Amino acid sequence: MTYYNSIAQQYKKSKQLSFRLHIEAYTYFHLLGNLVGKSILDLACGEGFYTRLFKLQGAAQVVGVEISEKMIELAKQEETRQSQDIEYILCDVFELGKIGSFDLVVASYLLNYAQTKEQLLKMCQNIFVNLKPGGRFVTINNNESQSPSSYLATEKYGFIKSIDSPLIEGTPIKYTFTISASDNKFSFYNYYLSRATYEWAFRSVGFQEIRWQKPVVSPQGIAEFGQEFWQDFLNCVPIVGIECIK
Ligand SMILES: C[S@@+](CC[C@H](N)C(=O)[O-])C[C@H]1O[C@@H](n2cnc3c(N)ncnc32)[C@H](O)[C@@H]1O
Repeated sequence: MTYYNSIAQQYKKSKQLSFRLHIEAYTYFHLLGNLVGKSILDLACGEGFYTRLFKLQGAAQVVGVEISEKMIELAKQEETRQSQDIEYILCDVFELGKIGSFDLVVASYLLNYAQTKEQLLKMCQNIFVNLKPGGRFVTINNNESQSPSSYLATEKYGFIKSIDSPLIEGTPIKYTFTISASDNKFSFYNYYLSRATYEWAFRSVGFQEIRWQKPVVSPQGIAEFGQEFWQDFLNCVPIVGIECIK
């Protein structure tokens, strides 16, 4: 799970890819809504890309939790360089327990690290206990419903997925990123669990409402690259947003 130690810098750089800004971040912030005055727990915060943006968007309190020492070291370096009063905690989300009572618990690409339904349930429990009543969990995740036949269709956006065996619960899905022609490729794995398993885990821990959000492109992204450029991404839907209300 500390695999990200070896790819921390490359992962950070991948946040510059156009789909990150114009689809991933745009979809995420669309789901998050107004953050002014909110308390936010950012699980699997990585090197703090979103964690810092939450503070910039007016959140009152932001806490980031991350398992990789190297990723959190990069986050802390940014905090030292320009303090935003963000607290970073090195911890495995499986072990987290209750550390507060937040308006929002967020996590981009955390749940797809659960390899079994029991692990997913444990993550969801640790999300749920850290939310106020009525609080929201918002996440961007690997879209488990993407057909493997379209795994190569995202190459022009800087990444592809691949699998070595058919998709069943727990199948590893390899993401390979190419940031630019001069950068080395790098890879990491997510794990497949079905949408039914996700829905089961959310409901089992007590979430009342669950909403799945398809990716949306920012108006700026359309103006800059044209609608046609994004069509393959929108057709194959490699990532998905999820919102759950306590
Ligand atoms: C794809 S990165 C996303 C980082 C960040 N959320 C972002 O969007 O830039 C996934 C992150 O999840 C972290 N992670 C995976 N499993 C974790 C766990 N059980 N507890 C805490 N962090 C975890 C990894 O170390 C990695 O930094």
